[in-house]
Amino acid sequence: MKSKIAQLTDAVNAFSAKTHEELEALRIQYLSKKGEISELFNDFRTVPNEEKREIGQLLNQLRDAAQAKLNDLKTALEATKGASEKMDLTRSADTLPLGTRHPLSLVKGEIIDIFSRIGFTVAEGPEIEDDWHVFGALNFPPEHPARDMQDTFFIEKDPDVLLRTHTSSVQTRIMTTQKPPIRVLCPGRVYRNEAISYRAHCFFHQVEGLYIDKNVSFADLKQALLYFAKEMFGENTEIRLRPSYFPFTEPSAEMDISCNLCGGKGCNFCKHTGWVEILGCGMVDPNVLEACGIDSTIYSGYAFGMGVERITNLKFQVKDLRLFSENDVRFLQQFQ
Ligand code: DAH
Repeated sequence: MKSKIAQLTDAVNAFSAKTHEELEALRIQYLSKKGEISELFNDFRTVPNEEKREIGQLLNQLRDAAQAKLNDLKTALEATKGASEKMDLTRSADTLPLGTRHPLSLVKGEIIDIFSRIGFTVAEGPEIEDDWHVFGALNFPPEHPARDMQDTFFIEKDPDVLLRTHTSSVQTRIMTTQKPPIRVLCPGRVYRNEAISYRAHCFFHQVEGLYIDKNVSFADLKQALLYFAKEMFGENTEIRLRPSYFPFTEPSAEMDISCNLCGGKGCNFCKHTGWVEILGCGMVDPNVLEACGIDSTIYSGYAFGMGVERITNLKFQVKDLRLFSENDVRFLQQFQ
């Protein structure tokens, strides 16, 4: 009996099955009612009493080992079966979902690209600023409404720490740290204390331009902006400059382009005027140059500032500003 058990134990250890049929054959051969292990249990009756305890234990171990081995083989078979059924090696791989660039990034990149072709480099400054860089150095009078909590997000009062309301603050940073000639473009995010609606947001993006050198004139400004408008909106685009006011430029102007939707004939978009406003600009006020340590008797310069959302709307007719910050992929995927 003992040698038979040893022999069957070896057989069990050597169990292997490549298919479910082979596995079932093993089960029948060893563990079914008439199987070899079951037969041994039948023979157990003939074992002398004094050996019953030991042989009984060996038999139970043998049966349990056989059952465990069959279970293992079954699990292994199932695992490979699953893999071979699911895997179709001829199928092309899943495509990785590709993200798209945000429309504001695309347009910002295009603005930078256009101005870099006429010598502008990019400079950035902090979004958290002090009063002097955002207002003081830029010739804002002490009582200017922009200095009010209603219009500006203050982080601290006295001394003022605030979120910049325009990228003109980067002009201050550049002029106080660099010597002319200066020719920079300052893209960035700005913040204003506005109720959020389809046409206003509490943050948006601007690109500021600044050029300072000897003998810079308003004609240079106009030429650079005309070049930009044609590059951005097409060769047939026209510009017009309307007198305006900004504390940091003198003279100041706002620039319109001929409506790029109707070509200047007049439509709902341009309110039937044929023109749409795209930026503010002017000659840097001598007070600003002096505040930043640049001799205004030697140097002059021009500056301009535009809203990236505005330019993007003109290019893509996005009707609701809020879409830019909602990250809805149905919106973003349209800018492949
Ligand atoms: N900073 C102005 C604004 O946020 C835009 C602007 C106007 C910038 C005229 C300029 C400029 O540099 O010359 O509305």
